Amino acid sequence: MKYVTLGRKGPKVSEVGIGMWQAGGKSWGQDVVDHDCQQAMERAIDLGVNLVDTAEAYGEGHSEEVVGHAIRAAGRDRVFIATKVSGDHLRPRDVERACRRSLRRLGVREIDLYQVHWPNPWELSPIPETMKALERLQRQGRIRHIGVSNFDVRDVEEARSSFSRADIVSDQVQYSLLHREPEAGLTSYAKREGIALLAWSPIAKGVLAAKYTPANRPKDSIRSDNDLFRPQNLKVVAPLVALVRKTAKAHGKTPAQVALRWLADHPGVIPIPGVKRPAQAEENVGAAGWSLRRAERAALDRTSAAVLGRLDTF
Ligand SMILES: NC(=O)c1ccc[n+]([C@@H]2O[C@H](COP(=O)([O-])OP(=O)(O)OC[C@H]3O[C@@H](n4cnc5c(N)ncnc54)[C@H](OP(=O)(O)O)[C@@H]3O)[C@@H](O)[C@H]2O)c1
Repeated sequence: MKYVTLGRKGPKVSEVGIGMWQAGGKSWGQDVVDHDCQQAMERAIDLGVNLVDTAEAYGEGHSEEVVGHAIRAAGRDRVFIATKVSGDHLRPRDVERACRRSLRRLGVREIDLYQVHWPNPWELSPIPETMKALERLQRQGRIRHIGVSNFDVRDVEEARSSFSRADIVSDQVQYSLLHREPEAGLTSYAKREGIALLAWSPIAKGVLAAKYTPANRPKDSIRSDNDLFRPQNLKVVAPLVALVRKTAKAHGKTPAQVALRWLADHPGVIPIPGVKRPAQAEENVGAAGWSLRRAERAALDRTSAAVLGRLDTF
């Protein structure tokens, strides 16, 4: 496993992480089982992954509890634990309480990366107040690093200007061959400022693993209402999925590994694929340690841009 620096002088994290939203209950499907999710995380850690993402919102804390069990089984020092405070807990006192609850569920004394899940969704608390509360938690040793999620450049700048000494090491955003909004400005800003981008939904919730078609769509509550899974859109993305599959074949890899590699080949971008079972974790770790050729990246870029221009939605 290759390790990359989170932020400018931050800690080393695996170039591919793991997402644990799936461990939050049955919203990702009836096939989700706590034990499998825990085993998936432990398997990923055995294979060198240290970056594990969760949030207090996932299953109202259940994902953090499952992650806590896996941390105890794997060993605290092998895990870089990233969790998030929800948008309705952004007032300073709420941030502190939420952090205490997450520490308890995770069974750790310190959170490695504490992220603001969404920027001030209902204008409940000004960003500077939230950031000062996070800086206090950092001084108290309850969190090691501060991150944000779903922040655009303006939000990140406002957050950073609120600190007296701290800084943001990462912004977690939706980013994949089927969602390239960060390239409108955030990717270049983050690169210039030494802020890592953690890419959520890096395999487009399974679409880039080349298994979903108009005739075979997931039935879980998270994906059944997602525009990308509308039959018409699954038809539109088929040429990109076919190219991902062809590229994978040329490397003896799988489509999911190519989708993740396309992200990891961007400096400062770290995909955090969500998994339900050990086999998926193992497969996704296979995205580390190799690179796509320049011509392959260019072809994927072109086909993705063409497909995105024809998607009916988001
Ligand atoms: N900050 C935020 O606002 C935010 C939002 C969303 C997610 N996240 C984080 O990002 C993580 C990843 O995003 P995501 O879960 O939305 O999407 P994703 O990683 O693109 O897709 C995850 C789904 O893809 C399928 N999958 C995973 N590995 C596979 C493989 N090797 N082969 C085939 N299928 C595979 C699994 O579902 P099936 O097997 O059922 O197809 C899995 O549930 C989450 O777990 C969470 O930690 C953060």
